[in-house]
Parts: sequence; C-alpha cells; structure tokens
Amino acid sequence: MAETTRRAFVCGHPVAHSRSPVIHNYWLRQLGLAGSYEKIDVPPDEFGSFLRDFQRMGFVGGNVTLPHKAAAFALASETDEAARLIGAVNTLWVESGKIRGANTDAPGFLANLDDRAPQWRRARAATVLGAGGAARAVVYALKASGMETVRIVNRTAAKAAELAEGFAPGPIAREWNTLPSLLRETDLLVNATSLGMGTGSGPEIDLAAMPAHAVVADIVYIPLETPLLRNARARGLTTVDGLGMLLHQAVPGFARWFGKRPQVTEELRQLVIADLGAGK
Ligand code: ATR
Repeated sequence: MAETTRRAFVCGHPVAHSRSPVIHNYWLRQLGLAGSYEKIDVPPDEFGSFLRDFQRMGFVGGNVTLPHKAAAFALASETDEAARLIGAVNTLWVESGKIRGANTDAPGFLANLDDRAPQWRRARAATVLGAGGAARAVVYALKASGMETVRIVNRTAAKAAELAEGFAPGPIAREWNTLPSLLRETDLLVNATSLGMGTGSGPEIDLAAMPAHAVVADIVYIPLETPLLRNARARGLTTVDGLGMLLHQAVPGFARWFGKRPQVTEELRQLVIADLGAGK
C-alpha cells in the first residue's frame, strides 16, 4: 500500500511571515518522509470553521499562530497543562477523533536554554521583562522548571502584577525602576517584551550590576542579536537568542504529525537565518 502523504499547516492572520514551513519542510526532507507543511491564512471570523474542517481538507494537524492561539485553546477538545495555564494553544493534532491542543512555546523555551546555555539550570533567581503572551509562556516555563525566584518587570506595572497573580504562589511583580538592584541578584534575565525587535528601540537596560555567571536570553529573533544581547555579550555574559525557541517549539508538533522526533541542528539554524535575511 502506498504511504499516505501527511499534511500539516500553520494558520495565522497574517501568516506570510511564518518561518515554520522552512523548519518542518527541512525535517521532512532530512528524515525522508512523504509529507507537507503549508501556510494557511485564516481570518479570525473563519477560525472556528477552519478547526471543524481541517481534517476533511486532508490535514493531520498544525500550528496556530497570532491571532488564533487563545481561540485554539478555547475550541480544542483537550489541552495539555501548559496550554491550560498559559491560556493559549500553538499546536493541534487529532487523537481518537478529537482535536487536541498543546502549548509548546514553554517547553521550547526551556529546551533552547538547555541547548545553548545548560548552566542556566543552576540559576536560582530569574527576572522576566514583559507581561504579554510571550512573557506568560516564559513565566509558566520557569515556574514549571522549579526556578526558586521569578520576578516579572513590565513597563505597565499593573500587567506584571496581574501575570504574577495568575501564577501564584511564586512569581513576584516588581516595578521597572527596581531593575538596577534586581539585576544584581539575577542569574537568568529573559526579555519577553517586543523591545529591540526589528529596528524599534526602547529604554537601554544597564547590565553592569549582573553577576558574571548570569545568562541573558531574548525571545526576539529579528534581529538575531538584539541590543540587550549585544550589551550582555560585551559584558562577557552568556547569551541565548530567540531563534532557538522558535526551532525547539516546533519539535513536538512535527513528532505528532509525522511520527518521528526531529533534531534541532546547526544546519537548520543556518537555513532559517538565511531565510530571515532573504525576507528583510
Ligand atoms: P506578546 O504577546 O508578543 O508578548 P504583547 O502582549 O503585545 O505581545 O506584549 C508586548 C510586551 O512588550 C508588553 O509587556 C509591553 O509592555 P506593556 O505591557 O507596558 O505594553 C512590552 N513592550 C513593548 N514595547 C516596549 C517598550 N518600548 N518598552 C518596554 N516594554 C515594551
């Protein structure tokens, strides 16, 4: 019997910018699997019907990107713990006829840290900048990893307080102006704001007081080296860029849809970097 060609999707609105096809099609080629991974632009008012129809359209599942992650969480029949606590689903598949949803951003964030800066596991205190959807996944991941102290600092203090409350007990909200003293006691600093993204700029964060062993991670990957990471590198700190999170979050979905667990390789990283360059 001929092998069935499995098809997966990434749906978003807009979706043209998504780099996920580069990642999944690389793995399909590398593993010699018959399959495809396609971009589908789904406007918000059509997302519900897309979820009902995707199996009939021949898809085994797919990724969900902005602005559909919360709707995917609301509409999936069953979700994993990360999705429930973050309130967002980025990976869908079908099991026993039901649509299942997972959030792989949080495990992807941790897998990337393990890959690029394994010493982060010795960190006791983390500071997270930001209180949006990305920060939510990072705070959940750090809490789940057993991090002793997680502080959340955001330009709009009320949002940091709300995020901390949602994950109580544990994470603590702190005012932006306390950063200089917080950084003195920070082993892991994560930027989960859109600060430094593209050509945008924002307030400079002075890293001078950070301990020499500290790890500085950014979830932004355009540019690959954000001003924050450049400053951290200049200070001799270990840096982790946001591209690895994008690569690692893709692993569990691929394994579900195509039946093999793929590897995040340097070759893949370079392929996506070249694609980002081409897309400028
Ligand atoms: P995402 O879902 O990607 O996290 P978001 O929900 O729009 O996006 O959140 C963006 C985050 O970047 C917020 O924490 C935002 O701070 P506010 O809550 O105060 O808006 C933060 N952010 C964006 N631009 C910023 C800037 N120039 N300086 C500091 N924080 C900034």
